Parts: sequence; structure tokens; C-alpha cells
Amino acid sequence: MVEIHTHILPGIDDGASDWETSVQLARSAAEQGVTDIIATPHHRTNRFMNPAAEVVSLTGKLNARLEAEGVPVNVHPGQEVHVHRELLSNWQNGELLSLAGGPYMLLEMPHGHVPDYMESIVYELQLAGVCAVIPHPERNAEVARDPDKLVRLVELGALAQVTSASLLGGYGKGVERLSWQLCRQGLIHFVSSDAHHPERRGVCLAEAYARVEQTLGAEWAGYYRSNAAALLAGSEIQDAPLPVATRPSGWKRLRRLFIR
Ligand SMILES: [Fe+2]
Repeated sequence: MVEIHTHILPGIDDGASDWETSVQLARSAAEQGVTDIIATPHHRTNRFMNPAAEVVSLTGKLNARLEAEGVPVNVHPGQEVHVHRELLSNWQNGELLSLAGGPYMLLEMPHGHVPDYMESIVYELQLAGVCAVIPHPERNAEVARDPDKLVRLVELGALAQVTSASLLGGYGKGVERLSWQLCRQGLIHFVSSDAHHPERRGVCLAEAYARVEQTLGAEWAGYYRSNAAALLAGSEIQDAPLPVATRPSGWKRLRRLFIR
């Protein structure tokens, strides 16, 4: 299994506070069958700036540590980039990291709303060969009020990741309900733990996939698993297992122009 969104690097954001916690998170992931983890520290938020070079260097150190401790997981560099107006120029200047060096970028919106320039950023990123992956849209207040906001972004070529704990009820009934609704609409392409801490916000990917299998069926669990693997490989994600008549169209064709 591939875990695409974690705050596993030590001491640089609100995730793992030290090396021991990082190793604990990786060990817990390995025990669930995770082979690869993408480290996605917050970047460009009010509190955290984690430049690309620092993330890459710390990822290398964590891999060395995991090897020394016998934890069979590979960590790959990434960032959870908070959306900002200079994003395109920062990408072009090499300040931002995509996920594991591929054509996907984890692009976080503020929790309270969908910025008015979000659609143009998603579109311009596409033109630059990068596909935006929007983490936890189910926890965005504006998407909760009006899920069509997410529909529009997905039509423009964005992908979305639901958080494991949201599916499992950890953020309350409303978020849980919306999470499953977005999944059923084919608006979710990945499941990830967004792990911060082994106890408080740990890796719970195996449990989340089991719940997906139980609720939506094995085909959906396989869909999310293979999408995470495809993201890591930098290849195209699959069509959602929706009836053909209800499948989103257009956006998929647009994305194919850029993602090879
Ligand atoms: Fe995160």
C-alpha cells in the first residue's frame, strides 16, 4: 500500500515532533502493509515554511534511520502546499515539491472556504504539467455547504483525497456522511491518513480500506489502492468504478493531455 499524505518528517510542522515519533509512524504503517510513504510537511501556511531542499534532505535522513532500525518502508519527498497566489511562479522557480517527484501536487485550501482563484490555479498548474490533488475536501466548510465547488475543480482536472479518519467517523457524523457522498459521486480519487501523530492522528489506512470495501465494495477499495500506487509511479489514475452514465467526463480527457 502507498500512503500519499503524511506529516512524518520530524520537527518541521505540526506532525511528528522528533525522530522517535517519525519511526513510530513508519513502523505502524509498515505493520498495516504500507511499503511507501510520501512525506508532505505543510508549506506556505501562516505557521510553516518548509522549502524543497530541506524536505528532500530530511527525507533522506529518515530513510537512513528507518533502514538502520529495520522498518521496511520507503519515504519519498513531497509537500502539502497551501494554495497562494504566487504558486505558479514558485513552482517554476523550483521552490515547490510535487509528490514523489511525479506530476501530482498536494494543494491545500483553507478550511473555511474555496479561494476565488483556486480554479485558475488548478487550470494553470495543468498547463504546467502538474495535477492538483486536493486533500480533505470533506473538511472544507464551503465544499460542505456546496459540493458543486469540488465538482467544478474536478472538472478542471483536479483530484481529491479523503482522509481515513473522516471515513471512519473521527471528525463527526456530518464529515463522515459528506465523505461517503463525495466518494459515491466519483469526486474522491485517493484515501490517505494525513498522519500527524501515532496516537492522536495515526496511520489508519488498512482500517479505512476495509471500511471502503465493506461500504462501497472491493472494486472501490482496489480503485483507491491502485490510484495511490499510480500516483507514486507518476502514471495516470484509473476511472472510478461508477456506472458509465454517471462518470464525470471532460476533465479526464483534459488531464490525459498532460499526465503520461
Ligand atoms: Fe496534511
